[in-house]
Amino acid sequence: MVSRQRAAHMERMEEDGKKLSRIHNLDESKIILATCAHDLFRDTNPDKLLKIASVWKLQITKEERYLPLLLHGKIASEYIKRRFSVDDAEILDAISYHTSGIPTNSKIVKALVVLDTTEHGRKFDGVKKLREIACKSLDTGYDAVIKNKIAYALIHDLLILEKTVQTWNYLKGLSS
Ligand SMILES: [Fe+2]
Ligand SMILES: [Fe+2]
Repeated sequence: MVSRQRAAHMERMEEDGKKLSRIHNLDESKIILATCAHDLFRDTNPDKLLKIASVWKLQITKEERYLPLLLHGKIASEYIKRRFSVDDAEILDAISYHTSGIPTNSKIVKALVVLDTTEHGRKFDGVKKLREIACKSLDTGYDAVIKNKIAYALIHDLLILEKTVQTWNYLKGLSS
């Protein structure tokens, strides 16, 4: 379902996820499942993503209609729910929202967002610092990764996802 590079990205996340689980005492089995499933549909054709979302009656946001690739997390989450009867809300949310983040206190959701940005194959300015922060504190790491997403979007003239803005405001104390 995915390219070799994508599979390698997920494997690196799994590896880092095990380390992060030991550091922060997370449920490692949830992290492994979430990392191995999160990008299963990342290489799927955008038209197909829209089709699957519509057949499965998933709610499609304006942003996802504009950029269907954004659906890949939501669809992967629904897929493991249907195909493997996964019903753990933390795992499903972590997969659904790994790109945008969500206002949450779940360590699993936070860890997946952090791991996706900081896995050891990622190379961008500041990634080492983000890894260090996340190793010290998952909460602070999540804040820093969300901040990085917004800064990256501004610098590269990209959309800022509504959920990312909601997450940022939540982290600044606005209740969701
Ligand atoms: Fe992804
Ligand atoms: Fe990913």
